[in-house]
Amino acid sequence: MSCIRLESVHKVFQKDQPNELHVLRDINLELPPNQVTVIRGPSGSGKTTLLAVLGCLTKPNSGSYYCLGEPVSRWPEAFLTVFRRRHIGLIFQNFNLIPGLSVAQNLAAPLLVTEMKHSAVQQRVTETAGLVQISHRLQAPVETLSGGEMQRVAIGRALVNQPQIIIADEPTAHLDSALAAEILQLFALLHRNGNSIIIATHDPAVTTHLPVDRVFTMKDGQLSRHDSY
Ligand SMILES: Nc1ncnc2c1ncn2[C@@H]1O[C@H](COP(=O)(O)OP(=O)(O)OP(=O)(O)O)[C@@H](O)[C@H]1O
Ligand SMILES: [Mg+2]
Repeated sequence: MSCIRLESVHKVFQKDQPNELHVLRDINLELPPNQVTVIRGPSGSGKTTLLAVLGCLTKPNSGSYYCLGEPVSRWPEAFLTVFRRRHIGLIFQNFNLIPGLSVAQNLAAPLLVTEMKHSAVQQRVTETAGLVQISHRLQAPVETLSGGEMQRVAIGRALVNQPQIIIADEPTAHLDSALAAEILQLFALLHRNGNSIIIATHDPAVTTHLPVDRVFTMKDGQLSRHDSY
């Protein structure tokens, strides 16, 4: 079974208006499980939009999306939210942390809507904080963290549900090269643990620190595959 399958996916913004924008045009993509996939492409080419479709945050206007074999593009919104929470970890371009809450509270946020007991949530938060090396800052309000620390919390929050698929939008964009290497090594570890990883990035360092299986470029709403970075 493929992990991700897109069939003739189109995404249009401002549909039927004079400024109609076709961001994804006839995208076909099939990814087996446990691979590292990189998506490159110029600013505005539609990488974030593609990740939003893959992450079940938005639906295509036409075409089909099968995630882990399920026809998710045909599902109602409420089903998608549950599916996303269970199977997909999303790391956003701008972190999307919740200001005013501590690192521990941000890490626990995705678990609060589940049936997990308080003690199990605490244990999962402790384990995840260790994995992303932020244990020493657990009680700090997130707005007091450095960019690299915020990125590690954002990754921890995406991992805390133990999802199969990890989707990251420019995960190294705000980091210096040493921190970027650390984050990429963390993705390499997740890949060894069996996760499927999809990253949109401009950063050539991805191939130095990650065993990248597939590289695609987005251009003019279409996706083309390369043999190497
Ligand atoms: N919600 C939206 N409504 C209208 N237009 C949008 C929306 N989201 C994205 N767009 C437009 O779609 C195009 C693709 O945007 P997208 O964010 O997917 O590009 P990107 O490749 O991720 O760019 P970057 O490298 O700068 O992050 C852009 O022209 C953008 O303005
Ligand atoms: Mg983007």
